[in-house]
Amino acid sequence: MYKILCKDGRAKRAEFQTVHGTVQTPLFMNVGTAAAIKGAVATTDLKDIGCQIELSNTYHLHVRPGDKIVKQMGGLHKFMYWDRPILTDSGGFQVFSLAGLRKIKEEGVTFNSHVDGRKIFMGPEESMQIQSNLASTIAMAFDECAPALADRQYVENSVARTARWLVRCKNEMERLNSLPDTINKNQLLFGINQGAIYDDIRIDHAKRISELDLPGYAIGGLAVGESAEQMYHILDVTVPHLPEDRPTYLMGVGTPANILEAVDRGVDFFDCVYPSRNGRHAHVYTKHGKLNLKNARFETDDRPIEEGCGCPACQHYSRAYIRHLLKANEMLGMRFCVLHNLYFYNNMMKEIREAIEEGRYQSYKKSMLESLAGGEQ
Ligand code: GUN
Ligand code: ZN
Repeated sequence: MYKILCKDGRAKRAEFQTVHGTVQTPLFMNVGTAAAIKGAVATTDLKDIGCQIELSNTYHLHVRPGDKIVKQMGGLHKFMYWDRPILTDSGGFQVFSLAGLRKIKEEGVTFNSHVDGRKIFMGPEESMQIQSNLASTIAMAFDECAPALADRQYVENSVARTARWLVRCKNEMERLNSLPDTINKNQLLFGINQGAIYDDIRIDHAKRISELDLPGYAIGGLAVGESAEQMYHILDVTVPHLPEDRPTYLMGVGTPANILEAVDRGVDFFDCVYPSRNGRHAHVYTKHGKLNLKNARFETDDRPIEEGCGCPACQHYSRAYIRHLLKANEMLGMRFCVLHNLYFYNNMMKEIREAIEEGRYQSYKKSMLESLAGGEQ
C-alpha cells in the first residue's frame, strides 16, 4: 500500500495507495474542519490548487450536522463532492483544545458541545463509529494530546491510556469494517504517537504502537507550545522507532520552514490551518516571505501576489485589485488569498518531491529556508 520510491538522506519520496486513489508523498492535507475549507473554497477548487487529501474533523461533524446525517447522505465523499482521499481526525485533539472538556476516564471523555453546550461522551469506540459513518479514507486513532506543560507523571499516565485506547480503536475498526452497511469497508486506521517532550516516553510509545502493524502512524502533541528546536529533536528521536515502511504524519504542522525540516527527518504527511487562516487575514505566502496585502504599498502594485505562481488568483489578478477587495470587505479578496496560500503549500510539496527524486533535497531546503526568511519584496 505504501511504497518508497526513493530516499535522499532521511527524506522519503513515496506513494500511498488507498481505495480513493494513490497519493504522492511528502504531501500537505488541506484542512476542511467541518467539511468546508474556510475562505469560501469549494472542493471543486481543490484540484486547481493541487490538493491530494482533504482533512475533516470527527468532533465538528459529530456535533453538526451529525455523522448519522452524513452517513444517510452517502458518506463524506458524496456529501462534499470530493472523490480523492479524506482523512478524519479522531476528535481527541479538538475535544481537548476546543470543547468544554469535563472529564477524562479510562472509557473516554465527557465534554460540552461548542455549538449548543450539550454534554457528549466520546471514547475510542464512539470515535471509530463516527469516522466509519463519515466513511473517510483514513481514520485517526482516538488519543489524548497532553498539555504542553504537563509534568512527567501526567504524560506517562496519559500515554499509557492512549496506548490502551489504540488497541480498542483497532478492534472497533475491524468490527465496523466487517458490517454489511458500512460505506467504506476498507477504512484505514493510523495510530498516533504521544509523549510530549520526553524522549524515552516518545520512544517507548512509538515501539508499542508499531507492534500493532497499522497502515500509518502519526506524531501528535507537537506544535503545542514547545520550541521549534524541541519539535525537531522529538522527530529526530521518534521517527526512527516508527516503521519506515509506513507513512509518517506530523499532525498540525506547520510553517513552510517546519515542513522543510520535518521532511528532512522522514515525515510524509502534514496538515495545518496556517495557509487558510493567514489567507483569511490577508497574509499571503511567497518564496520571499509573507506579505500583508492590506498594506498601502500595494495600492497600485499591478504584479500578481507572486510572479510565476500558477494559482487561480495569480493567473489574472493583481495585488492592487486583491488589496482593493480586501479593503472593501469583499469575500472574493479573502478567497483569492486562501487559494493562493493553499496552492503555495501544495506547490512547495511538489518541489520537495522533485528535489528528493533528484537527490538535491539538502540544497533545495537550504535555498528555500534562506529565501523564505529573506523578507518582503
Ligand atoms: N492535531 C494536532 N495535534 C494533534 C494530536 O496530538 N492528536 C490529534 N488527534 N490531532 C492533532
Ligand atoms: Zn498565486
